[in-house]
Amino acid sequence: MSNVKKFRIKSFKEITPILELEKISLKFGRKQILDNLNLKLNNGQILGLLGPNGVGKSTIFNLITGLISPDFGSIIIDSKVVNQYPIYQRTLKFKIGFVPQYGGFFHDLTVYENLKAIAEITIDNLSYRNEKIDSLISKFELDPIRDIKADFLSGGQKKKISNSYFVNFKSKNFTIGRTICSFRCYDN
Ligand SMILES: Nc1ncnc2c1ncn2[C@@H]1O[C@H](COP(=O)(O)OP(=O)(O)OP(=O)(O)O)[C@@H](O)[C@H]1O
Ligand SMILES: [Mg+2]
Repeated sequence: MSNVKKFRIKSFKEITPILELEKISLKFGRKQILDNLNLKLNNGQILGLLGPNGVGKSTIFNLITGLISPDFGSIIIDSKVVNQYPIYQRTLKFKIGFVPQYGGFFHDLTVYENLKAIAEITIDNLSYRNEKIDSLISKFELDPIRDIKADFLSGGQKKKISNSYFVNFKSKNFTIGRTICSFRCYDN
């Protein structure tokens, strides 16, 4: 963990913390992956993580989104300890968006069906939902591939699908990735 570098791309005077990791430790088997990790992200800040392959960056995102739990330490979002919150509650309550390093779409659906599937969950109003899907198709230049199954897309085209969810279906507060910011998770 000592090899993960945190860098703040943007800092604001506001110092309301929206994400805090306190004294996080985690082992996979006997291998210590994270050891007493502390990290704080204030509202409006953008924070990135840099480090060698296998050092634990994606593991940190998985802890924040709730995919895995730490052996020790607290995950705090909007001043609430969320260790016991399952993924869906963190998503709904705190509106965390996450673009995973790999995948992040439905393999067997077309590009259009992928966007529709997410829009049906996130947007109630039908005409606004369709408008949003059309605008995403246009913004990400997906029209030529809209009826192709995700499995048959190129690597970059696949990435566009998960990126388009992330940009638009709409996580309020924070972005994490090899960049962390205000509250979307972007592991790329
Ligand atoms: N579910 C798991 N079970 C066992 N070991 C795991 C698991 N997930 C990750 N690891 C191990 O934890 C370490 C950290 O993995 P992680 O995916 O967080 O690395 P990373 O910093 O994101 O690397 P990269 O830059 O290659 O994406 C690696 O040694 C990996 O093999
Ligand atoms: Mg990774």
